[in-house]
Amino acid sequence: MDYNKKSVVDIDVSGKKVLLRCDFNVPMAKDGSGVITDDKRIRAALPTIQYLLEQNAAVIACSHMGKPKGEWKPELSMAPVAARLSELLGKDVILAKDIIGEDAKAKAADLKPGEILLLENLRYDKGETKNDPEFAKALADLAGEDGVYVSDAFGTVHRAHASTAGVAAYLPAVSGYLIQKELDVIGGALAAPKRPLVAILGGSKVSSKIGVINNLLEIADTIIIGGGMAYTFSAAQGGAIGDSLLEEDWKAYSLEMIEKAKAKGVKLLLPVDTVIADKFAPDAASDVVEAGKIPEGWQGLDIGPKTVELYCDAVKDAGTVIWNGPMGVFEFEKFAVGTKAVAEALSQTDAITIIGGGDSAAAVQQLGYADKMTHISTGGGASLEFMEGKVLPGIACLQDK
Ligand code: 3PG
Repeated sequence: MDYNKKSVVDIDVSGKKVLLRCDFNVPMAKDGSGVITDDKRIRAALPTIQYLLEQNAAVIACSHMGKPKGEWKPELSMAPVAARLSELLGKDVILAKDIIGEDAKAKAADLKPGEILLLENLRYDKGETKNDPEFAKALADLAGEDGVYVSDAFGTVHRAHASTAGVAAYLPAVSGYLIQKELDVIGGALAAPKRPLVAILGGSKVSSKIGVINNLLEIADTIIIGGGMAYTFSAAQGGAIGDSLLEEDWKAYSLEMIEKAKAKGVKLLLPVDTVIADKFAPDAASDVVEAGKIPEGWQGLDIGPKTVELYCDAVKDAGTVIWNGPMGVFEFEKFAVGTKAVAEALSQTDAITIIGGGDSAAAVQQLGYADKMTHISTGGGASLEFMEGKVLPGIACLQDK
């Protein structure tokens, strides 16, 4: 995909109203207290917001939060985000009571250069996810005649929604710094990687990683498979996997991938041993067995010690490592060893290390290795689709350089 797109520095925003799409879909405390448990995505939006404000633009920021599906759910209000953003910027963030309603229109009309307004949760309106042209036009209209659209919501560029794609039909559309950074780092690693390029793919399902395995088989020198999906590969090769995760329908595909790797000369590493558990629970009894020799009544929940050694060794001399998906059930302390070891190995290598969002990003953060990585993507699904080589609607709609 061509990602040579114009950014905020390529256009004049001074004195203009800028509709800025951010991904402020941040995790919130489950008790409904409105406490943001990780503000990484808000911090990641700051460079673009600060630049726009310094350029004397009036910023109309907007984002979705959760999946309210057109319902006005108070627990998914943008109010906590407005408060946190205001603290981080050290200035007032005006919160609109609606999205394209009277309050937002009045506040957007009154907004002065150097001020920032945040609209309510875009997904309170069904028009957002439907990419309804009327809703997109109403959003664009908030920025007025010579308004500009800046997209900095990397986490949602894989969605063809009104605020991520539709709105570009009505305003000049460019990217912000965060999108540029994500495209430069991930795109650069895919297009011209420092070799050897090692891709570590984990997570529970083969079916959710097909695209990425397929695309990376064209680019990578080594592909490492861990997590739940490794058991489908093992079963496909005739291994006994007990009660481990299995996607029966993807066995044939797994074999195809093994063959494709051979044909392309890509090293495909699969677990050689497994940490098994007698139930899916943090306090389960555990043992270590050879891969493909899991007894009935037991299930694999982590890669074993020999596999840890093999995988950590493979990243030592890498030029670039891309990691997407944990090696085991890292939410359970007892089965987090493989994921921790890979995170640690990445923190020690001289390679460019790119963590593809979602669970692996959370793991790296939880384990305290975040500042040792070259790049942790703010996109979960978005970074995965980017690595699959898919066209991302939220990027495709931006002006070419
Ligand atoms: C994410 O959290 O990955 C993005 O904010 C996209 O959210 P969505 O999966 O609800 O579209």
